[in-house]
Amino acid sequence: MKSYQIITFGCQMNEHDSEVISGMLTQRGYTETEQNPDIVIINTCSIRENADKRFFGTLGQLKKVKIANPDFAVCVCGCMMQQEHITKKLRQSYPWVDVVFGTHNIHEFPDMLEEMFERRAAEGEWTVKQVRSSKEFRVDRIYEDRDEIVEGLPAKRLFGHKSFVNIMYGCNNFCTYCIVPYTRGREKSRHPEDILDEVRGLAADGVKEVTLLGQNVNSYRGKSKADGKTWDFTDLIYALNELEGLERIRFMTSHPKDLSDRLIEAFGKCEKLCNYIHRPVQSGSSSVLKRMNRKYTREQYLELVRKLRETVPGIAISTDIIVGFPGETEEEFEETLSLAKEVCYDSAFTFLYSPRQGTPAAEYEDQIPEEVKHERFNRLVDIMNEGSKSRNAAYVGRVCRVLVDGPDKKESGILNGRTEEFKLVDFEGPEELVGQIINVKITSSNTFSLRGEIVND
Ligand code: 5AD
Ligand code: SF4
Repeated sequence: MKSYQIITFGCQMNEHDSEVISGMLTQRGYTETEQNPDIVIINTCSIRENADKRFFGTLGQLKKVKIANPDFAVCVCGCMMQQEHITKKLRQSYPWVDVVFGTHNIHEFPDMLEEMFERRAAEGEWTVKQVRSSKEFRVDRIYEDRDEIVEGLPAKRLFGHKSFVNIMYGCNNFCTYCIVPYTRGREKSRHPEDILDEVRGLAADGVKEVTLLGQNVNSYRGKSKADGKTWDFTDLIYALNELEGLERIRFMTSHPKDLSDRLIEAFGKCEKLCNYIHRPVQSGSSSVLKRMNRKYTREQYLELVRKLRETVPGIAISTDIIVGFPGETEEEFEETLSLAKEVCYDSAFTFLYSPRQGTPAAEYEDQIPEEVKHERFNRLVDIMNEGSKSRNAAYVGRVCRVLVDGPDKKESGILNGRTEEFKLVDFEGPEELVGQIINVKITSSNTFSLRGEIVND
């Protein structure tokens, strides 16, 4: 049977899609390898320009492999395939790609792959000349959007003890900088029973922690199969909290505009819900937020932070921020700096604004010069790092419950794990502890991680 390798760009959603692709291929008897695979699948991301560039760079390298061995199969999928200008470019410059599919038909991929091999067998393997001169992909199918959610697909998990679970797909928010609503389609929520069954199955399989995934999980609206009633995200959390064997629940991403009081309350009431929330603010300036179509102001965001910290003491908060959105003035940027100082985030992902073809902001005339973006970016990162450092320093001396993920990649004898607040902790210990939740006393801290030692219960 043939072997495959998946190269994944982008977010957790893509990572999870790749786990599903891997699960389906394994079920059909293909084996995963990193050494000379027969098939390479590239799962692409469109969020920023550098993801596009890396994709085309990878494809350029794969062309050399294909020319050396026309049997080799290259399959491409993910967000970039949902953009017409990208598939047009692929068709023009990379027509030797074998299979092309989008974000709405991952489940069709194993059949498309077999169809491609059958066509090859019927048409004969391509010669090097044909690879160079081909005019079309062997098999391609992309859907603009789809209402149905395909259930029951297998997923090959990266870890035995933790797993991602998609609860919804797509996004309806249309933030003016963002390509996701165009590449992932409109919001669609899974039935709560399907989610509960999946998590029950995972827990029975030894999974202790699930991360519920969606572009905007707070707007989850799942219709119950039993009585047709609609569940919101908090209903789902309460139900998951009751599942035996499951110990931790996380979620991402949540949009500040939809964070309900009931959800904030659930942190105190659901012992499995981890004290951590990712709340992308994007900008600290109400005027920029308005141009971004974020539907909240600086003041409303800060009020939510206050409420979260008051109701859930010790909650860790992380964020995403975009620097250099079109028209961002120095004053507006300084409002982002002051918000960052005021909130003092546990961690942050900071991005240079990247114009995405097809989004409104890409058309705005007052684009910010790259050097200004970089200069602002560096100033922001310094403040963010100071915040993370001081939040982490407060953990020294505390005993944390840590779910052990695995051995450290660099230091032998050292294990890594995560606290409830999603803090990365390094400590000495035997590998048998992987997958267990243990007590670790924090002995020192730095900007991005904590160091500790195991203590007995
Ligand atoms: N440019 C820069 N960053 C972006 N993000 C989304 N679109 C863009 C863009 N065009 C960031 C946002 C989002 C995160 C996943 O990526 O901060 O929260
Ligand atoms: Fe993009 Fe905004 Fe939707 Fe997040 S909420 S995926 S930033 S459009």
